[in-house]
Amino acid sequence: MAENLLLLGDSASREEKYRYLLPQLQSLLSGEKDWIAKMANIAAALKQTFDFFWVGFYRVTEGELVLGPFQGPIACTRIPWGKGVCGTAWKEGRTIVVPNVEDFPGHIACNSASKSEIVVPVFNQQEVVAILDIDSDQLNDFGDKDILFLEKITKLL
Ligand code: SME
Repeated sequence: MAENLLLLGDSASREEKYRYLLPQLQSLLSGEKDWIAKMANIAAALKQTFDFFWVGFYRVTEGELVLGPFQGPIACTRIPWGKGVCGTAWKEGRTIVVPNVEDFPGHIACNSASKSEIVVPVFNQQEVVAILDIDSDQLNDFGDKDILFLEKITKLL
């Protein structure tokens, strides 16, 4: 099935938009087992819902993070373990919120328009197998609600 994603208007809060999006994503992804297909639709749905500057996945492939499905401008193709925000979230196995990318030592600037960022690891059992990365062109754009809902969304994979 492929229906249109239903979107709330601009007056809705980010939390309301996440609450509206989550069951739609659950339904869209249920029964699909291909990770790349699911990552592609998650990236598209987050871009459609929030119009973030960049939304995408990097997959752990042969010991590096390799660019996966995304929405937005072209991005760095490979990120080593422990490097940048993405490689650090992979190494530490935890979500990282960066209110101002200029304050994160070793931040990898794929695009100078990116001002703040959130990176959420995707786990298979205990192992990080991918990360979800979202970049905003606004400073301090991510908080507790983003952590809460994006961690729920990565569990749909
Ligand atoms: N800023 C990231 C690199 C990926 S791009 O933002 C799409 C980092 O520091 O790991």
